[in-house]
Amino acid sequence: MKVCASMLSADPTRLGEQLLAVTHAGADAVHWDIMDGNYVDAITFGAHIVKHHRKLTDIPFEIHLMVTNPDAQIAAFVDAGADLIIVHPETCPHLHRSLGRIKNFGKRAGIALNPSTSPDFIDYCRDVLDMVLVMTVNPGSAGQGFLNLQLEKISIVKKKLPPEMEIAVDGGINAVSAASCRRSGANSCVTGTFLFGGNDYAAAIQSLALDFFPNKDISRMTSESKIQV
Ligand code: DX5
Ligand code: ZN
Repeated sequence: MKVCASMLSADPTRLGEQLLAVTHAGADAVHWDIMDGNYVDAITFGAHIVKHHRKLTDIPFEIHLMVTNPDAQIAAFVDAGADLIIVHPETCPHLHRSLGRIKNFGKRAGIALNPSTSPDFIDYCRDVLDMVLVMTVNPGSAGQGFLNLQLEKISIVKKKLPPEMEIAVDGGINAVSAASCRRSGANSCVTGTFLFGGNDYAAAIQSLALDFFPNKDISRMTSESKIQV
């Protein structure tokens, strides 16, 4: 499993320090949860914050847009250094066009499926889609319980897409739920509370990854956290 560290659960007074710590501990990507206080209740990070953290590391940045009008924010997050931008279908009146816009900037494009959202949104966006994020909690906050019914959706999504496509899970992920997701077809996970709630980031990441890809790039890891592949 690819492991993406969600900065939502990092200490907001030490974001840069914790970003570097998870990078050195072997995270494959950093996940920024962008909330606007409208689509979801909370307000979190804006493009300005992401852009400043972009200077600290070259680890891939993924931007999970939980905002009412993602089209208005795509350019700003591209400028801030996004590698992947993920949108919710409910927030895009022209979903295919929004994904195409992200790709026209040369970035990867993803769809996030809320627990109640049908996987059918994928079907006619496959030509502009690089990944699917299956929400295993309702969007809006960290620390919620994993929703088991979403395992069924992961397997449906898996059948719809080419085998190499990234299928990520987001919400309530720990070593146990990650293993269930992997068995259902996920090959990537987002971790917030489980990662930042402990003090051994490398061990937490390794327990989620389980089966690191043989060609995994381990150059970012420190010597203490390096693992055998
Ligand atoms: C929820 C966010 C998640 C969240 C995951 O709206 O999309 O990325 O940070 O946090 P945990 O791992 O605590 O469920
Ligand atoms: Zn997220």
